[in-house]
Amino acid sequence: LSGEDVIVVSNREPYIHQRRGERIEVQRPASGLVTALEPIMRACSGVWIAHGSGSADREVVDKHDRIAVPPEKTAYQLRRVWLSAEEEAGYYYGLANEGLWPLCHIAHVRPTFRSGDWAHYVAVNRKFAGAVIAEAKTKNPIVLVQDYHFALLPRMIRDELPDATVITFWHIPWPNPESFAICPWAEEIVAGLLGSSILGFHTQFHCNNFVDTVDRLLEARVDREAFTVSLAGKLTAVRRYPISIDWPPAAEMVGKPIEQCRAEIRQLNSLPAAHAIGVGVDRLDYTKGIMERFRAVERLLEMKPEWIGRFSFVQIAAPTRAGIDEYQNHEAQVRALATRINQRFSRTGPPPIVLKVEHHEPQQVYEYYRAAEFCFVSSLHDGMNLVAKEFVAARDDERGVLILSQFTGAARELPEALIVNPYDADQCAAALHLALTMEPSEQRDRMRLMRGLVAEFNVYRWAGRMLLDAAVMRRRGRLLGK
Ligand code: G6P
Repeated sequence: LSGEDVIVVSNREPYIHQRRGERIEVQRPASGLVTALEPIMRACSGVWIAHGSGSADREVVDKHDRIAVPPEKTAYQLRRVWLSAEEEAGYYYGLANEGLWPLCHIAHVRPTFRSGDWAHYVAVNRKFAGAVIAEAKTKNPIVLVQDYHFALLPRMIRDELPDATVITFWHIPWPNPESFAICPWAEEIVAGLLGSSILGFHTQFHCNNFVDTVDRLLEARVDREAFTVSLAGKLTAVRRYPISIDWPPAAEMVGKPIEQCRAEIRQLNSLPAAHAIGVGVDRLDYTKGIMERFRAVERLLEMKPEWIGRFSFVQIAAPTRAGIDEYQNHEAQVRALATRINQRFSRTGPPPIVLKVEHHEPQQVYEYYRAAEFCFVSSLHDGMNLVAKEFVAARDDERGVLILSQFTGAARELPEALIVNPYDADQCAAALHLALTMEPSEQRDRMRLMRGLVAEFNVYRWAGRMLLDAAVMRRRGRLLGK
């Protein structure tokens, strides 16, 4: 990629500068998208355009709103785009997270669509298009557009820079056409995405759903052999690219010996040294199945009372999108359920559920992964879920069990996990017991296979395959004079 003009666009920025009194603190947000893209950007110095969301973000940029990152060893430029409170409310909280997020996840939360939110969504997409045009150094940059915040951006870029290669990646599921058609602006969104040269999803199932949606909504030509869509003479390839993580994991993530992690994490949470622990790591989001997870723990203690007082489940829950009612209700429900289960089972010892609603830096999260007997991912629907892959990356001791919802993209790649239906509390409880009693040799056999998969299909492979497909397209285009 050296020499190429590479621009990434996402809503969430990889580094957030926050003011804490006199000091400015740099935070890394909890976002699967950022986790995946950050190593790629470190490897290919380009420009990453994102919403400047931190309280001290404006204080550290230059006059072009840019700052070189990562702070410890700069490798690429972060260009911040500023949004007013109204724009953020309409585009981010409203259309993106009260509309498209529940629409695409089908997690039994009704999407809300307001025309005012849509107007902001259109305007903010246009604002980011302006930033892309300003940052492009050539007529034909490679622009990597990320996620459901920017469905209209690919077409806007194409209108201004017809020779650009626009690769759009949709990090969340794409539902069936009937479900998607609920959205009052379904056609505009699909037509916007078809400004892309390549449109990527995590699974073939989501590619199929997208192509079916196009077929249902637009007068476009769909080629199911080549898996391309042609709208007004412009061709978009729809492809599956399962996202992944950095591999091998950075030394500081896995540097602390397992025994030390085990001891420190138990001590930190006032748990006895020999106590068994399971871990869950998520944003506090209703799609993640945290309620179902706690119910499974409760069911385990009912079915196998020998675990009472000997086992705790530690849930790291990063606060997220707190401006949205549905998220506030969800947090209250999660807290109430944890309290109820703890009151029921912890009269004689440590609580069965340790709920930690606070931001944790990636390094701390890895210590939890390394300290636990198992990791439980119970999403009700998830594009990929990188927590599953991070847990596997953290366990260089080849121990630990992954319990994984069948409704994640990751379940298709990691069949050696204990695959569960999060809606089935009995089945999940049985998986928890199995994880707590699994022979080390079986843990090792399963973990080895999973580590092999993540090592081979790491995030560089994910980006590499997309960029390779784009390069072939560019060469072909030049040859055919297009
Ligand atoms: C999901 C989305 C990302 C988003 C992340 C965190 O992974 O696909 O686009 O960045 O959630 O959510 P937030 O709203 O905090 O950016």
